Amino acid sequence: MDSCGILALFEKVYGRSEGAEAFFAPGRVNLIGEHTDYNGGHVLPCALTFGTYIAARRRTDGWVRCFSGNYPETGVVRFELEEMANDPRHGWANYPKGVVRVFRDNGFPVDSGLDMVVRGDMPSGAGLSSSASIEMATAVMLSSLFSLGLEDEEGRVRMALLCKDVENGFIGVNSGIMDQFAVALGRAGTALFLDCATLERRYVPVDLGEYDIVVMNTNKSRMLVESKYNERRSECEQALADLRRAGAPISSLCDLSAGEFFGWEDAVADPVCRRRARHAVLENGRVLAAVDALTSGRIDDFGRLLNESHLSLQFDYETTGRELDCLAELSWQREECLGARMTGAGFGGAALAVVRRDGAAEFIRFVGERYGRYIGYDCAFYRSV
Ligand code: GLA
Repeated sequence: MDSCGILALFEKVYGRSEGAEAFFAPGRVNLIGEHTDYNGGHVLPCALTFGTYIAARRRTDGWVRCFSGNYPETGVVRFELEEMANDPRHGWANYPKGVVRVFRDNGFPVDSGLDMVVRGDMPSGAGLSSSASIEMATAVMLSSLFSLGLEDEEGRVRMALLCKDVENGFIGVNSGIMDQFAVALGRAGTALFLDCATLERRYVPVDLGEYDIVVMNTNKSRMLVESKYNERRSECEQALADLRRAGAPISSLCDLSAGEFFGWEDAVADPVCRRRARHAVLENGRVLAAVDALTSGRIDDFGRLLNESHLSLQFDYETTGRELDCLAELSWQREECLGARMTGAGFGGAALAVVRRDGAAEFIRFVGERYGRYIGYDCAFYRSV
């Protein structure tokens, strides 16, 4: 596998590529179920055809050398297996470093250094999980080069959980489990229907007939995503604490059905926290409805659920912002579009639309031209699911 010229890049950086092997992990787009994963709810992500490529070879000493074709200005980053703290000067290389560290901390025999190069063919910072993708590509590489035996389904689940530990403990982002599961277990032509409370999952075929999924990147630089994300998490925790104090027999917000939530909602004292909780509970219901719509071929119902999801994220969860709202509202104006919503954490990043294939070129022209005019810079489109 060398579709990104990854072995050629290895040779360019380290002189020769004998013994180097190539690995890949995809990015993901979440069809529906946003900000439900850390609330014990369901999600429905798809793996993308683009993602992160790594070429790597073991060394005989304890040095790890990494180079990224996407950030050549950082040069070759070097660190020793015994010196594995997060280092802000190492930038992107903290992701592979964190994976090596967490694997070693968990007793996996990663007992020699490595030379590696990385190149992603996906936009980073677009809310399509470039970070989970580089973490997983590193994990897959370690499993193969150090014979860790994590290639089967159970091993991939283990790798996803370890990569989540990297994100939470080493990188310092308090994300849920969706992204790592999507990139570890995604399969072509299907979405992963995951219950984030129990990790039970199944694959749902994504057969949209004459429709395609178009991914739209706002190209907005994602400042403050982490602090806003953590703020939403604590608002949900506050709502959960209020509900439990009032006697609701739940361990996470998504244990409530919509009807139950409306019975209990007055127990949430702060109106902002109440709206956050309402989003989580209703969004979880929309995931179940979306799976039902997809499995019974009701594509227009699926599209409508996407629109409802966006509106809920816009008004109750407040994670959209001008650029994502602009993409959704322009999409909704087009008759060839069945539905559109933001995807991922929000606050910039990407949106997706379900668009009739024969109208997709015109859709892209219309949305692209007006977005540039209203926002002042261009968005980008991908058809890669
Ligand atoms: C980010 C996080 C995920 C999830 C989404 C929102 O992508 O990494 O865990 O919470 O935001 O649905």
